Amino acid sequence: MLATKQPVLRRFWYAIMPIEQLESGPQPFTLLGEPIVLFLDAKGEPAALEDRCCHRTAKLSKGWCRNGNIVCGYHGWEYDRDGMLVMIPQFPFEQPIPDARARAFRTKTRYGYVWVALDEPLHDIPDIPEDGDPAYRRIFQFYDTWNTAALRLMENSFDNAHFAFVHKNTFGDIDQPRPEKYEIVETDYGFEAETLITVKNPPIAAKISGTTEPYTKRHMRNKWFMPFCRRLDMEYPSGIRHIIFNCATPIADGKIQVVQLLFRNDTEADCSTQELIDWDAAIIAEDRDILESTDPDAIVDMGRKIEKHMPSDRPGMLMRKRLLDLLHEHNEEEVPKPMAMDASAPEQRRLAV
Ligand code: FES
Ligand code: CO
Repeated sequence: MLATKQPVLRRFWYAIMPIEQLESGPQPFTLLGEPIVLFLDAKGEPAALEDRCCHRTAKLSKGWCRNGNIVCGYHGWEYDRDGMLVMIPQFPFEQPIPDARARAFRTKTRYGYVWVALDEPLHDIPDIPEDGDPAYRRIFQFYDTWNTAALRLMENSFDNAHFAFVHKNTFGDIDQPRPEKYEIVETDYGFEAETLITVKNPPIAAKISGTTEPYTKRHMRNKWFMPFCRRLDMEYPSGIRHIIFNCATPIADGKIQVVQLLFRNDTEADCSTQELIDWDAAIIAEDRDILESTDPDAIVDMGRKIEKHMPSDRPGMLMRKRLLDLLHEHNEEEVPKPMAMDASAPEQRRLAV
């Protein structure tokens, strides 16, 4: 599925960037292949417009903010947060401003990030009840660009068969390759999946999980929010909860912005923010390395028989089925990447001679 070619994917909220990044002025971002510019309006709320001036098409992100409007850096045309052209410095005051604009998109601020939906959203931003709960702290773990498809990251996080291999140097045990089973309940927004997994605890992991046992079982109560958000809720035997929330925001086909937040019901004195960032960074680097080696076109219609599967792939298969259903509900067919040219095809050979 080429994410940029499926219009229904424009009807979801995506985490774009930390709101603080807008304090230094307009910022460009590409969402589902659409170049946008983000800036703060007069009330300090985020605004998102197409990143293109309607005069000579310059990128508005090259300009600056003035009283909550955005000023094009080329000739100074000025737009408000809704994309209306409000000022042309070269026009005499008495002359009406042409009815011209830049397209505007919906924005929200949630969990310290600006979220954007390019078209009318089908669901709200996933709810994280721990955010704002005084028993929990919120940690910004990272904000990185990866060369893979959003679905690859989603299915990977519900794939219990990869721990023993991909994470053999952190928490996985290569001598225990048999995955645990997930209990899955479908919901309107995606699904919930519950399991118990056994993990290895190197010394730092003991601090993370609040145990000194070399191996522990952790209770996982996870959620997938269509299309590309996930919540991994790990409960250690110590009672510590380690809740990772990700949004895999599609930038282009095969390119995503990975946003990761962590919620913990302990304190800085129990385990420092930096230790938690470093621990999860080591784990996610292992995932990233292998995911960037996969085909970035994760096919959702498995009738195409592009991949072979095993029982532990079930959560990923369910994601593909739900995404395919979503496309069909909106009268779309999956758009896969064009097949590679077969060098041995007769036409090719003829061209070659
Ligand atoms: Fe933007 Fe001319 S291109 S003002
Ligand atoms: Co992993």
